[in-house]
Amino acid sequence: MLCVRLILLTSFLIPLINCQTIYELLNSFRFLNEGSISKSDIYEYQYEYVMYTEPENVTRERFAWVEEIARPYLYQRDPTKPLQCDSNPLLSATDLPGADFLSIIPSSADPSLCHTLCCNYMSCAAWSYAASSPVDFNDCKKGQPCCYLKTYVPKSLDNPNIISAIMNRTFPYNHPPTGLRSAVPLGGITTGSIELRGDGTFHEWTVESQSPASGAKYGVVGDALLAIRLKNLQTNETDSRLIRTHPHHDLQGIDTIRYHGSYPVSKLELIDYTLIANMDLYAYSILKPGDLNRSMTPAIIFSLNIHNPNDYPISIDFMYNAPLSVQIDQIRLSKNILQQIASDTYIQCISLCDQNSLCASWNWQNMNNQSTCILYSDIGNNVHLNGHVSGIRGQWTYDKSGPLVLDRPGHMPSNGQYVLWPFLSSDQTMTATVDNNINNILSNFSAYGGWYQQTEIKGTGANGAVSISTILQPGEKKTLSILFAWYFPHHNWLDLPLDNYYSLLFNNVTTVGQSIGIDKDDNQLKLILKDILTLHNVYFNSSLPNYLVDSLINSASHMRSAMYFSNGDWRQWEAYDCNDVDSVHNDHQRHIPYILYFPETEKNKMYTWAKYQQADGMIQETFTVGCMGDTVPYDQHGGRNMGDVTTIFILETLELYRWTNDFNFLKDMYPHVVAGIQWQLSVSTEFGLPEHLECTYDIPNMSQYPTTTFNSFMHLAALRACMELALIMNDTNTYNQCYEPFIRANKQINQLLWYNDTIDTGYFLAYTGGAGEKAIFTDALYGQVLAFTYGLGPLYNISIMKKHLESEVRLADTPYGLRMLTGREPLTNPQDNSIWMGASQDWSVLNLWFNMDPDSALIQSEKGLNLVRQTLNDQWNVHGLYAADGYGIGGKPWVTSHYGFHMVLWHLPFALSGQYTDLAKGILLFSPKLRSPFILPVLIPNIFGTISSTPLLNGQSTYTFTLTIGKLSLNTLAINNAKYPSTVNLIAGQSIQWSG
Ligand SMILES: *[C@@H]1O[C@H](CO)[C@@H](O)[C@H](O)[C@H]1NC(C)=O
Ligand SMILES: *[C@@H]1O[C@H](CO)[C@@H](O)[C@H](O)[C@H]1NC(C)=O
Repeated sequence: MLCVRLILLTSFLIPLINCQTIYELLNSFRFLNEGSISKSDIYEYQYEYVMYTEPENVTRERFAWVEEIARPYLYQRDPTKPLQCDSNPLLSATDLPGADFLSIIPSSADPSLCHTLCCNYMSCAAWSYAASSPVDFNDCKKGQPCCYLKTYVPKSLDNPNIISAIMNRTFPYNHPPTGLRSAVPLGGITTGSIELRGDGTFHEWTVESQSPASGAKYGVVGDALLAIRLKNLQTNETDSRLIRTHPHHDLQGIDTIRYHGSYPVSKLELIDYTLIANMDLYAYSILKPGDLNRSMTPAIIFSLNIHNPNDYPISIDFMYNAPLSVQIDQIRLSKNILQQIASDTYIQCISLCDQNSLCASWNWQNMNNQSTCILYSDIGNNVHLNGHVSGIRGQWTYDKSGPLVLDRPGHMPSNGQYVLWPFLSSDQTMTATVDNNINNILSNFSAYGGWYQQTEIKGTGANGAVSISTILQPGEKKTLSILFAWYFPHHNWLDLPLDNYYSLLFNNVTTVGQSIGIDKDDNQLKLILKDILTLHNVYFNSSLPNYLVDSLINSASHMRSAMYFSNGDWRQWEAYDCNDVDSVHNDHQRHIPYILYFPETEKNKMYTWAKYQQADGMIQETFTVGCMGDTVPYDQHGGRNMGDVTTIFILETLELYRWTNDFNFLKDMYPHVVAGIQWQLSVSTEFGLPEHLECTYDIPNMSQYPTTTFNSFMHLAALRACMELALIMNDTNTYNQCYEPFIRANKQINQLLWYNDTIDTGYFLAYTGGAGEKAIFTDALYGQVLAFTYGLGPLYNISIMKKHLESEVRLADTPYGLRMLTGREPLTNPQDNSIWMGASQDWSVLNLWFNMDPDSALIQSEKGLNLVRQTLNDQWNVHGLYAADGYGIGGKPWVTSHYGFHMVLWHLPFALSGQYTDLAKGILLFSPKLRSPFILPVLIPNIFGTISSTPLLNGQSTYTFTLTIGKLSLNTLAINNAKYPSTVNLIAGQSIQWSG
């Protein structure tokens, strides 16, 4: 291969990375988060009060992955601090009314049971006990005993029938390090994913097309494991380790693992002074913006970077074991029983199923003191159930060197293939094994560094494992890589079979490996790494603050739940725990990385929303209705009357048109925009503002009020977008239809919603009506956020909007972010009081556009994101809502997991660079909020780059525009009004420079 190191001289240096080794490329990944997990650490789940979140262990099929009221959250126990949970003082004949989160019938009429229950929940601050409940309440029944558990201590009342206690508790629990509560989800886009956590365990498996429309994810797969064996070739001493901090088998673990994540890459540094080599484990998948097909590769690659720092040679063996033929604590829900056979071990079920040609799946369980294998003629959905073990009929094959394949023929979602396949080169060798007993696998690995006796495999077995080995001379650095790929073409939506789109790209799992050249050399692997580095560098090589770079890179992991079917439909849940599909408003909160990386997916949804538009012009809220319950049939579209659905559809039409210069798309959407405007105006007749509509902030039930500021600003933004679109379409009639109402809405907002609470301060009221209270709602100006990013400019008087933002902080700030609604109910109401992840981001976006100095403007954004990044250390499971203080769980997750609300943070880079994009006219302008010198990302669908500025002595600046991904043609390019002197035609890797 030609090996050149080119240095391009622009304002900074760009070394081209043609000659870098895999080792060097991996080593150049950057991370802005880390968590150190040590073998002596104690980690335990504690139960906490929530409204609803997604559990690790899902117990229902065809149902939202949801748990209400209480859920386990992982903590690190501090063994030096006492654990105390006393009911002290005990208050006889006293009631503590209110603050209830759980009410449970105790197993007997004994108040001490309330004490025990209370101590089980970290959120329990007090309890009351009634020997005979006066009424049905939560899980308690009138006339039966009841324990009422409370999140805080309410005011006491005398009551002869009730005993209460205030808890005197200590909590020797800290938030665990980054990488344990969640980690980067690995796997191609729409192919399902797996998290490798910082202790070396594998969680959250959805690769067998699991979703709320079928079976449950595998919450944790204990025996999926990576291990190493090092040998000093001078002394022949060997040292075998599981890559775990808390190993659950005979092999020793690693002292400390330091976890880092930059989606789609996880890095685990193995820190242990007793190891004779320096090792970093990388686990990653393919992500290439602008290339959806490539990014839909159903695979994870494990690469171990090894450095031999000694003056003697060493050998290393690296292995991966996957227990793919047994699912521990999972039951298969089937009624089609072929045979029931008494059997002491679940392992026997594998061969019993194999011997019965009609057997498709099996389940092992202990019933009536008898363990039984039940063989089924079909494959039911799996759900979590302790003590049950199940599996799917399957066969492993392996032939000398190459892939170890597990084949599960059939047409159900769990039918498909897995492969374990080391990347070999002339100095590396591999072995493979299939074994029912993980301890055999590990002891042979430990003894020989592989399984040299098995050169050909064809058969069944619980575990499949592969190893790869090499020798390192003193000082040498090498990388050992293993591919873990899958091919599960089938995807069921309840009873409707829908194939995964990726089944059109690959014929089987072997072609997945071949598509990345595993059977040739490591050139494709280098490309995979370079593609990720190129994307990461758009953010890393910029002046954006670290917290934001980290959040931009890792929030894209939200794509984990996207689905793409061979019928051409792109679909995504609101969340696994809220199982509606692609509600327009929730999609819009998260959509910017999607529209940038894979814009066709967002257009795909726009066509579907347009298709389901009602006759009256209203765009329907979702493709599939539902939340927290049964999953309904595919594309059973519907929803509520919303202030942020039809409006957003109109705004997104403009956004996509300007950002992708796709006139056919605009032509297709325009009739739907015009119809949407008719509907929008029809619900705004009385005040000239939208009336009694719901919005994405639905828990406070804002549709009860005549109008809200949130919906009114969405109205303004949509009318402005309508005017732009009508101009493009030469449609004067529609232009006028939107212009007049825009002017009227502006006046009406001023009259009905603006409130001066003092001579100097004021804010927009959350809503009109109510009991006349003057509530403030944060994120009320979201419509303005969208208007700025899509180039519509200010919708309203700027100094008034700034006053409102000042009041949001003055009246609604909390240590965790901006409280949603203030002034309606007491602070102990966990609904109004909660922190929805959008408000703090949008506050910062608007203040940047209003030219507040960037450090001050970013305060709220940083606080909101760092709560999750740095306090909870749970960046790959950002919730939609967090709790505020006042009811016992301040700063903790409150509602809905793996959510996209915080992803409005993607408006920040646009605000920081002041990017204005109109590719239809060939215009790209920037008005950066940072003073020169700076480097900022350029973000356009399929097109990425940077702008930079260095100051010149004469007060002017030198500007550089560099394209790193895609190609770009422009008529006008300007930064700070300094125009590039000619038209622009760039391909990736090129830069232009000018001054002004
Ligand atoms: C989920 O189930 C597994 C056993 O299959 C258990 O080890 C794990 O602790 C459970 N997770 C939670 C959060 O309870
Ligand atoms: C709570 O427990 C601590 C430690 O045992 C004790 O010192 C303190 O007095 C207790 N507080 C009350 C209100 O009983």
